Amino acid sequence: METTATKSDVCPPTLRWQGGVDGCLLLIDQTLLPAECREIACRDVETVWEAIKSLRVRGAPAIGVAAAYGVCVGLQSALSGDIASCLARVTQVCDYLATSRPTAVNLFWALKRMHRVANDLNARSAQEIAQRLLEEAQAIEAEDRRMCRAIGRHGAELLRDGQGVLTHCNAGGLATADYGTALAVFFAAHEDGKQLHVYADETRPLLQGARLTAWELQQRGIDVTLICDSMAAQVMREGRVQAVVVGADRIAANGDTANKIGTYGVALLAAAHDIPFYVAAPSSTFDLSLASGDAIPIEQRDPREITHGFGRATAPEGIGVYNPAFDVTPARLIRAIICECGVIQPVDEATIRRTLHLTHR
Ligand code: MRU
Repeated sequence: METTATKSDVCPPTLRWQGGVDGCLLLIDQTLLPAECREIACRDVETVWEAIKSLRVRGAPAIGVAAAYGVCVGLQSALSGDIASCLARVTQVCDYLATSRPTAVNLFWALKRMHRVANDLNARSAQEIAQRLLEEAQAIEAEDRRMCRAIGRHGAELLRDGQGVLTHCNAGGLATADYGTALAVFFAAHEDGKQLHVYADETRPLLQGARLTAWELQQRGIDVTLICDSMAAQVMREGRVQAVVVGADRIAANGDTANKIGTYGVALLAAAHDIPFYVAAPSSTFDLSLASGDAIPIEQRDPREITHGFGRATAPEGIGVYNPAFDVTPARLIRAIICECGVIQPVDEATIRRTLHLTHR
């Protein structure tokens, strides 16, 4: 894998395309953060698949954007062939990338969009398909940037100066093309002059909260305190938290929301302490084909993430392990969903459908 070191004080964007149709996808290897900010160059689709699978690029919207560019990378080997073989390659690459991770619907949303664009084009050459697909991937990236800014603006209205807020996992600029979803709400409130104090759950087992969220907030000069996941109840009981904002990987039609494992527990704690629990996510994270969260596929990950986190044995050899990467928070625990279309409240199917369709007519 080809890597590029960057200056420690300036980190490049989460991901970016370099060059024309024969270019490559560059992305920050998030498994190295916060110790090192290093980009990897993805010049074949297998490298993109591996980067998604092993969480070098992660977070639902960023996975979608990476997959869209992954289609462009994967198509490069078919550019000298005829249109039929080029379209067959698009299907093959989309099917392959769809096997990288199962829960974040943004992956499938982006792949479906790329596949449709290629097949609707009526192209006269493979080059034309490649050019159009690169434009579509760039559009997906640009839309994600715009949606995140809008989420930040809508969400900031819900927070007041001086509040303590809690978040779980990482739903920041690293999880999107830029700026984030849950963290966008904090960034926008901060830009509005509101002083917030953010509690970041470390987020076992892969520590996205400690490694990524704490780092992002610190970089932006936002007051942040890192806590272990098991401390959230006590922090709430002490009255330090007035709102919880998290991201999402897939939102069913009724508002049930899959997000990083531990989110459901945080939602229950918030309810027990009468603290509003908000989900921030773009429309690309909604899966209206699923009636409820019961149908959301939950990724099961390698037991070694729990027994050998970060290279050291932390459990006895041969121990049985259960490692679901996500859980589902029922809609009844969610005060509102903040999306680029506005604030969805109450969280129910009718309000979700109305809000999303109003914007996507
Ligand atoms: O396993 P990860 O790190 O990809 O999980 C990420 C999350 O659960 C995020 O909260 C979610 O994708 C929202 S990102 C804006």
